[in-house]
Amino acid sequence: MGRSSKDKRDIYYRLAKEEGWRARSAFKLLQLDEEYRLFQGVQRAVDLCAAPGSWSQVLSRKLRGGDEQSRGVKIVAVDLQAMAPLPGVIQIQGDITKVSTAHEIIGHFEGQPADLVVCDGAPDGNVENS
Ligand SMILES: C[S@@+](CC[C@H](N)C(=O)[O-])C[C@H]1O[C@@H](n2cnc3c(N)ncnc32)[C@H](O)[C@@H]1O
Repeated sequence: MGRSSKDKRDIYYRLAKEEGWRARSAFKLLQLDEEYRLFQGVQRAVDLCAAPGSWSQVLSRKLRGGDEQSRGVKIVAVDLQAMAPLPGVIQIQGDITKVSTAHEIIGHFEGQPADLVVCDGAPDGNVENS
């Protein structure tokens, strides 16, 4: 990795700490939203491969705007690894390739389809760019 790219990564690492995101990958999702308005009209969202949870934090802030009890908003986060709790985010510790995990996710939406599914999957331990 070249020096400038490493420096850039460090900027996001520091910024994530300052702004309270669990990983610098939060900025990837925020940038995608700026470009594509991903969260417009979204109430039910699934965050696949969610640990340590920065995308779930983004979803929570964007869909709820800080109000944990926002009516109709439901966020389900799934990862192989356990994740520290996030207010208003339902967590499933499981493998996203398993049908049983899919059923568990669907069960939380009580017959309604999800409006948005995001996935930031990487093999365990390969979180270099997160
Ligand atoms: C780059 S990290 C995700 C970072 C996350 N988006 C964030 O912002 O905090 C990739 C995650 O994928 C998870 N993962 C990889 N394979 C998975 C699988 N089959 N099922 C569930 N999670 C998986 C890993 O456990 C790891 O936590």
